[in-house]
Amino acid sequence: MRYSALTQRIAGDGAAAWQIHDRALELRAQGVDVLLLSIGDPDFDTPRPIVQAAIDSLLAGDTHYPEVRGSAGLRNSIARRHRQRSGQVVEAEHVIVFPGAQCAVYSVVQCLLDPGDEVIVAEPMYVTYEGVIGACAATVVAVPVRPENGFRVDPADVAARITPKTRAILLNSPNNPSGASLSLPIWQALAELCIRHDLWLISDEVYSDLLFEGEHISPASLPGMAERTATINSLSKSHAMSGWRVGWVIGPKPMADHLVNLSLSMLFGIPDFVQNAAQLALDHDLPEVASMREEYRQRRDLVCSSLGQCPGLRPVRPDGGMFVMVDVRQTGLSAQHFAERLLEGYGVSVLAGEAFGPSAAGYIRIGLVVDQTRLADACRRMALCAAGLLISQVTLAVTQPSGAVSRGCRSKLAREGR
Ligand SMILES: Cc1ncc(COP(=O)(O)O)c(C=O)c1O
Repeated sequence: MRYSALTQRIAGDGAAAWQIHDRALELRAQGVDVLLLSIGDPDFDTPRPIVQAAIDSLLAGDTHYPEVRGSAGLRNSIARRHRQRSGQVVEAEHVIVFPGAQCAVYSVVQCLLDPGDEVIVAEPMYVTYEGVIGACAATVVAVPVRPENGFRVDPADVAARITPKTRAILLNSPNNPSGASLSLPIWQALAELCIRHDLWLISDEVYSDLLFEGEHISPASLPGMAERTATINSLSKSHAMSGWRVGWVIGPKPMADHLVNLSLSMLFGIPDFVQNAAQLALDHDLPEVASMREEYRQRRDLVCSSLGQCPGLRPVRPDGGMFVMVDVRQTGLSAQHFAERLLEGYGVSVLAGEAFGPSAAGYIRIGLVVDQTRLADACRRMALCAAGLLISQVTLAVTQPSGAVSRGCRSKLAREGR
């Protein structure tokens, strides 16, 4: 039977990235002690008052069709919170609720892009962007970001990629995978480009509450940007609510109206009992949320300080988010082979940077998603893995100084991609 061309466009490399994670789950099911640091799912429970609000709402009978654009109460809470944090003047009419930021990004690009349009995206990038943009038959134009710039996008590199086909710039700050957050001067330069070339800006801000250094900038708050920016956020990371599927878009009124039409043909909104719980989450400064943020910060510090002292490993300190990128090139292995060796030999599952784009080749991404005791254990295992590789490099150099590597050894090295 025949499937649509779209099925090809959404089956990109993003899907393959998770193979190592699947293997880790398989090993775990066999009873192997595996530390799973390959996903970005918070390990905390959703704070109790939020769960209670959902239970109360269910018992009160909030189980019917919801308002497609999201309940007025939740949209008001989202608008108020965004106003307080960004200074941008928005009202409930600018907000559309979606089941998670993922669906929000998908819906926004469906409303902004036509086949053949180009979207400039900083690379390394969140793995699903390619499929999401591909679904519109639009093209991703990657802007490589340099590790020596802390993985921060350079507006001059963006400017160099703008063509008559460019329709939008899609950016994610703080970033997955790198944790880099963009400063005000960078955003101002990018805003200037958007205005000059009449481009949309799609700003994925799902890690905005997990920023540890500096101030989060919502670019829609800059002059001239509100009418050309879709701001996307969710409760998945900040409130440990990934399974609840609550996200949203804030955009100009006409964009919001188009998004409602899309939601009408695709979703019909999200359940009212979930929305009521989400509203409570936004209306209260829950202490659990503050302590989760503090715990992520401590985990980041732990990983950076312990791996920072390990020969062969160089962590890049992230500004925020739930991940740390670590340069493993000194071990002589590609990141993919390092990750495979780390999983099979030491029981730690991480993703190879290549999964997020070629500029992250040689880096692994560590998720800060286990407690500090287990994270310290994972760091010890990574150090052992790297040390073993460095020792074998030295042994090789000493025993085979002329470069006459034995055949068995050579094929082992080839298998590991060295
Ligand atoms: C950068 C980025 N955007 C969007 C999402 C999707 O988040 P949500 O759970 O709100 O759909 C994720 C999830 O990992 C992410 O890392």
